[in-house]
Amino acid sequence: FVHQLADESVGMEELLVSPLRLETKAAFPLPLDLYGAGRANSLGRDLAVVAQRDDLLAAHAVCVVPTVAEARSDEVDAAVDRAIKAFDAWNHAPVAQRAAALRFAGDALEAQLPRFCALLVKEAHKTWSDAVSEVREAVDFLRFYANEAERIQAPQTLPGPTGESNTLRLEGRGAWVCISPWNFPLAIFVGQVAAALATGNTVLAKPAEQTPAVALEAVKLLHAAGIPANALQLLHGPGETVGAALVAQPGVAGVVFTGSTQVAKIIQRALAAKDGPIVPLIAETGGINAMLVDSTALPEQVADAVVQSAFRSAGQRCSALRLLCVHEGIADHVIEMIQGAAKELVVGDTADLATDVGPLIDADAFEGIQREVQRLRAQVKALLPEPAPTAALPTLMPPQMFEIGAVADAKQEIFGPVLQVVRWKGDPLAVLQQINALGYGLTLGIQTRIDNRAQALARAARVGNVYVNRNMIGAVVGVQPFGGEGLSGTGPKAGGPNYLLRFCAEQTLTINT
Ligand code: NAD
Ligand code: ALA
Repeated sequence: FVHQLADESVGMEELLVSPLRLETKAAFPLPLDLYGAGRANSLGRDLAVVAQRDDLLAAHAVCVVPTVAEARSDEVDAAVDRAIKAFDAWNHAPVAQRAAALRFAGDALEAQLPRFCALLVKEAHKTWSDAVSEVREAVDFLRFYANEAERIQAPQTLPGPTGESNTLRLEGRGAWVCISPWNFPLAIFVGQVAAALATGNTVLAKPAEQTPAVALEAVKLLHAAGIPANALQLLHGPGETVGAALVAQPGVAGVVFTGSTQVAKIIQRALAAKDGPIVPLIAETGGINAMLVDSTALPEQVADAVVQSAFRSAGQRCSALRLLCVHEGIADHVIEMIQGAAKELVVGDTADLATDVGPLIDADAFEGIQREVQRLRAQVKALLPEPAPTAALPTLMPPQMFEIGAVADAKQEIFGPVLQVVRWKGDPLAVLQQINALGYGLTLGIQTRIDNRAQALARAARVGNVYVNRNMIGAVVGVQPFGGEGLSGTGPKAGGPNYLLRFCAEQTLTINT
C-alpha cells in the first residue's frame, strides 16, 4: 500500500485522508489577501502591531540612528586584553547573578519595545511586524539563556564507588568573539551575546557593519542591566578587518558566528591556522531551503506558506524559502495562487505601517541579487512580471518568481525575495534526495495530507528544521530550536536545550573521601 503511494497515486492517497482531517484542513484560516477582496496585509493581521500603533509611530518620529566609530587595530588588541582579564571575576560570579542581569535586560528591552522597533525600521528597513517579532525574540533569548545557564551550571553529582565523590561542573571558557549579521541585528546579536555571558564567558561583539546602531543600543541596555563594561565590549567595523582581527587574536576562547557559509569557512580556516589551543566555532549560516509539495496538499495553505516564507522580510532570512518543489498535478493551480497573492503584497517604505515588503539592506545586496535575477530572467521562465525601478527607494525589490528545470539548477542562496519553482512527479523521496544533494541543511517545508509521508520525508531530510503544512520561518526560542547542518552550519541549535553546552568547559571533580 505504501509502495503504491510512493508514485503519487492521488486516488490511493485520498483514501488515507479521513473526512475529519479534511474538515480540519478546510478550516485553516485563509488570509484575505490571497483573494484581493477585503484585503488585510500581514500587518493588518498582526494584532500586536495594531495594538501598539500609536506608541510605535511616536517612537519612530523621535528616533535618531546614532553613528559609530570603527575600531582601530590597537583598540581591538586592548579590548581582547581587557576581556581576558575580566573573565575570572565574571565566570566566578554565581550563575544566578549573571542570569538576573540578563533577565533584567530582558524586562528593560520589553519595556522599550517601541524604541527598538523604530530603530530596526530605520536602520535595518524592517517592517513593523518583523520589528515587533524581532524585539520579542531578543527578549526571549535573554530569558531563555538565563534559565538555561542556571539549569546546566548547577553542579551535578554523579554516581561512584563508596569512598569517592564525583561531580561534573560546567563553566565559561574565556573571552568569546560574537560575530553577527545585519538581517537580525537585534535578535541574533543579543542571542549570541546572552548565551556567552550567561555561561560565564566575556564577550567581544562585532555586529554587522550595516546595522551598528541597533547593536550599540542593545549593549547600552545590557550594561545598564548590570553586565560589567569589560565583560561585554562592542567593536564596530568591517568583517574583513575588525572581524578577522578579533578571530586572529591568540587569547580568544571561542567564536560564535552567524552569516554566510563563505565567511564561516574563512573563520574556520583562520582558527585552524592559529597556534595554541583548539578554538571552538559555532557557525550558523545560509541555505537553499526547499518546500516539497505533493498532490494532496491544500493549495490555499501552500500559497499562504510560500508567500510568507519566500517574500516576508524581503526574503532576507536564512530560513526563507528559496526553492518550491511542487507536484505537477497541482503546480499550475498553486503557481496561480502565489502569483495572485504576491501581487497583493504592499511593497514600499517600511516606515509605512501597511508595507509588507521593504527595501533590501543596501545597494551591494541589491546589485548582487539583481544580477542573479537578470541571469534567471534570461535563462528560464519568469512567473512574475519584471518590476519597474523605484527612484525614491533604489534598493526596493518586489517579489520575483522563476520556473527552473531541476532541483540541481538552484545553485546558490539568493538572499532576497526571489523564489525558484520546480515541478516534479514520481517519488517525493527521490526529490528529497536531490534537495539533500544541494549540500545545505537549514529549513525544509513539507506540504502533504499524508501523515506517514510527512514523517518519512522529515526523517530522510538532512536539515535542521522541518515545517509541515505551515510556513517555514520564524522559529520560536525554546519551542523550535533553530540551526542547520552541512553547508548551513555546525550546530548546536540556537534557542535550544543544547546550545549553551558549547559555550562551556566541563570539569569532572573526583575526590577520594
Ligand atoms: P556575512 O557573512 O557577509 O557577514 C556576517 C558577519 O561576518 C558580519 O558581521 C561581517 O562583518 C562579518 N565578517 C565578514 N567577513 C569576515 C571575516 N573575514 N572575518 C570575520 N568576520 C567577518 O553575512 P551577512 O551578509 O551579514 O548575512 C547574510 C547571511 O547570513 C546569509 O547567508 C544568511 O543565510 C546568513 N544567516 C544565517 C542565519 C542562521 O541562523 N543560520 C541567520 C541569519 C543570517
Ligand atoms: N530564526 C529565524 C527564522 O526562523 C532566522 O526565521
